[in-house]
Amino acid sequence: MIKPEKGGIHPREAANHHAEKAPGMLKETMKAAGVEPEEISLVTFSQGPGLGPCLRTAATAARAVSVSLEIPIIGVNHCIAHLEIGRLVTDAEDPVLLYASGGNTQVIAFNEGRYRVFGETLDIGIGNMLDKFGREVGLPFPAGPVLEKLALKSGGDLIELPYSVKGMDVAFSGLLTAALNEHKRKGKQLEDVAYSIQETAFAMLTEVTERAMAHLGKEEVLLGGGVARNRRLREMVKIMADERGAKFFAPPGDLCVDNGTMIAWTGWLMYNSGTRMKLEDTAIDQRFRTDAVDITWRD
Ligand code: FE2
Repeated sequence: MIKPEKGGIHPREAANHHAEKAPGMLKETMKAAGVEPEEISLVTFSQGPGLGPCLRTAATAARAVSVSLEIPIIGVNHCIAHLEIGRLVTDAEDPVLLYASGGNTQVIAFNEGRYRVFGETLDIGIGNMLDKFGREVGLPFPAGPVLEKLALKSGGDLIELPYSVKGMDVAFSGLLTAALNEHKRKGKQLEDVAYSIQETAFAMLTEVTERAMAHLGKEEVLLGGGVARNRRLREMVKIMADERGAKFFAPPGDLCVDNGTMIAWTGWLMYNSGTRMKLEDTAIDQRFRTDAVDITWRD
């Protein structure tokens, strides 16, 4: 994992890191799985959404594997992969996914033959908001887990922060500015600000997730993305689910964060249900929309 000493992740540096690590990682993975290259029958990769240089680097590696081993290649939608790995490793069958990570914040569900986005952030991802706040107040990256610990030390003094829910969508930049103001200008305790950020931002996410469930009549909620490891977010979504008589699911932590397993599994589902891609179909798409994928593996 790339961890910048200071500042955020630079797409180019992250892409270089991918290029450096890819060959060794492929070897290690095959060794851990006890698989020889000749035994691999399919290569899959994340086609988007994401950072262009990073996606391009991994796609190039996947194409090289496909061509050299003469095996098929499938590009996978990253957001759908979070949902599919959740369906694989939990008992969720037809959930509303709350996908909360650094770069992405979306509420996704299967409806009329497609995975559709019912709500999303209008500006920055929730994890990005937490990291930006952390960076400004001198916390290490990623700041989310540090803020979670700080929030537990708060006495529960809830500072009013902008609660931006617009229909099914959310926005975090106003909350970020206000939270920084409370700490830096007004001198509010970091613990209380961390607590208030979590309570406000997570309530927004819980509200739009519940609205999607009510709208679609779905009785399962699934969490995904790095921020889904936050205990307080889990607790709030679980309370909402319990109150509606719905079921709550979350994959284990290592399958909540971005992972290769979810891409492999979803590519396998696609291939098994008839999806085929030529090399010219494997261009990456930084803004790959969830509802652009033809879902051949579900009824
Ligand atoms: Fe992700």
